[in-house]
Amino acid sequence: MKTLFNNEINENYIDKIVTLSGWVSRVRNLGGLNFIDLRDRSGIIQLIVSPENKYYNLSQTLKSEYVIEVTGKVAQRVTANEKLATGKIEIIVEDLKVLNTSLEVPFQITEDVNASEETRLKYRYLDIRRPDISSKLVLRHKITMAIRKYLDSLNFLEIETPILCKSTPEGARDYLVPSRIFNGRFFALPQSPQIYKQLLMVGGVERYFQIAKCFRDEDLRADRQPEFTQVDVEMSFIDEEDVITLGENLVANVFKEVKGIDIKLPLLRMKYNDAIEFYGSDKPDLRFDMVIQNITNILANTECEFLKNTISNNGIVNAVVAKNLADKYSRKEIDKLTEYVKKYKASGLAYIKYNAEVTGSLVKSLSEKEITDIKNELNINENDIVFIISGNQKIVKTALGALRCKVASDNNLIDENDYKLLWVTDFPSFEWSEEESRFMACHHPFTAPKDEDIDKLLNDKANCYSKAYDIVINGYEAGGGSIRIHNGEVQEKMFEALELTKEDINNKFGFFVDALKYGTPPHGGFALGLDRLTMLLAKTDNIRDVIAFPKTASSSDLMSEAPNIVDEYQLNELGIKIGGKNE
Ligand code: AMO
Repeated sequence: MKTLFNNEINENYIDKIVTLSGWVSRVRNLGGLNFIDLRDRSGIIQLIVSPENKYYNLSQTLKSEYVIEVTGKVAQRVTANEKLATGKIEIIVEDLKVLNTSLEVPFQITEDVNASEETRLKYRYLDIRRPDISSKLVLRHKITMAIRKYLDSLNFLEIETPILCKSTPEGARDYLVPSRIFNGRFFALPQSPQIYKQLLMVGGVERYFQIAKCFRDEDLRADRQPEFTQVDVEMSFIDEEDVITLGENLVANVFKEVKGIDIKLPLLRMKYNDAIEFYGSDKPDLRFDMVIQNITNILANTECEFLKNTISNNGIVNAVVAKNLADKYSRKEIDKLTEYVKKYKASGLAYIKYNAEVTGSLVKSLSEKEITDIKNELNINENDIVFIISGNQKIVKTALGALRCKVASDNNLIDENDYKLLWVTDFPSFEWSEEESRFMACHHPFTAPKDEDIDKLLNDKANCYSKAYDIVINGYEAGGGSIRIHNGEVQEKMFEALELTKEDINNKFGFFVDALKYGTPPHGGFALGLDRLTMLLAKTDNIRDVIAFPKTASSSDLMSEAPNIVDEYQLNELGIKIGGKNE
């Protein structure tokens, strides 16, 4: 086994003989000398072969990505290369073995690769050789190790749960696996180990965790994969406070161990309703201000036709102030922003620029008093611009929430080295579904309502809040969880509230509801998105960067070409006929 990695060698090794192995990154001939950059997992080191060396001719045959083993003497470099960790030394080769050759690679294995992401995913095993990707895998390893160490120290047991299971209640589409033995029946891949971890609490495990694979067939975004990993935690004999405290200590411990970053605890907590009110999102990015402000009252008696209509139809008028940015927003820029907020269903974007002269789309339609009141209420200074959206509450908040993030990012208002963590708490138990014209569970149906809201489960769903919490980092939902219902009567009420019939319950999770009747301890937990946490610590906004073998945005694997067709006999065994989509 190799005993030394390139980056372990430093000036202390000068004059020592070392044996190294890895891949040829680059070969150059300068003044008759062959310079070889040897890459291994840890980094690059320079090798030198002089014309007198018996391996000189062999070294001339080396090409990129050949696999070699060298033995040589460590020497001081005449001119150090500051960019390399091993830049002060080089190896004078004494022995050289070619362990393997390589085809010409489709892209250079370097930091600044110019290949498309498609090509990189097709040859992912080569992409992983690039320090950019391999360093993120190292980071991910460090994160999981820190998590395991921390939870083990608190008596948590790491327990695996099945991958072939019955559909779980996380609300996305399932990946299904047909059964050969029971033709016409299917396993579902777990969307999360939710039911199993609660059953482990029924089983008396008390403290469980798992680095768990989860599968969700949902529309992908830059922070979503169909197959992703959760740090899944469940605990018995706890209350909301205990779980939140454990969760934030776990995350703070990871930041400290892996990055040396101190996170100040306890984390800020924000109620869901406040997050929506002031940030237009249940995952607010607090690295910059620009809170959403309600100016409906100021405009209660306005003569401006469209605002008047909105307000009389129970709509709201809200604003975001971009400080000292009025001069950055030309008509053209504002048109672009208007298109942007329309994606969030806003009907338009109004603005007022407070320069020496007050200008903007609303100036003619508002009274002077209204313009001054807005100025005073929102503490406007010279060169501030106020963006205003009116309409239905949900659309206004969502659109302004998105706008504040865009304005911050377009104007570099975000300190990329900053981490802002918080808990969003007190989620509603239910959300109204326009499509189904009924209240649906915001989380899974085992999420406990607030004690004071149990009586609202059946007759005041809009005002019923749950013991659910999300941990948010820099505008990403990094994790979430809840206290679970362990009381049979409350669970029945919840099912009734969700309009689940006895038959639905039995079919979907009858075994689980039965289990809860056998002395279930009070319990709760959470799951952190390991991929997202790694993304955040790696400072990338592409989740694929932190996964060894990720899927594309259309959920396929370009390297292995999965999903793919299978042999006819496999389908026959499963009793499956491919006939296109069932109508
Ligand atoms: P939830 O569905 O909120 O909770 O998931 C927990 C965390 O998992 C991450 N996550 C994802 N990451 C990448 N790709 C995806 N498609 C994806 N979906 C979710 C997020 C999220 O915060 N069983 C509950 C947890 C509990 O109640 O204990 C659950 O799965 O970071």
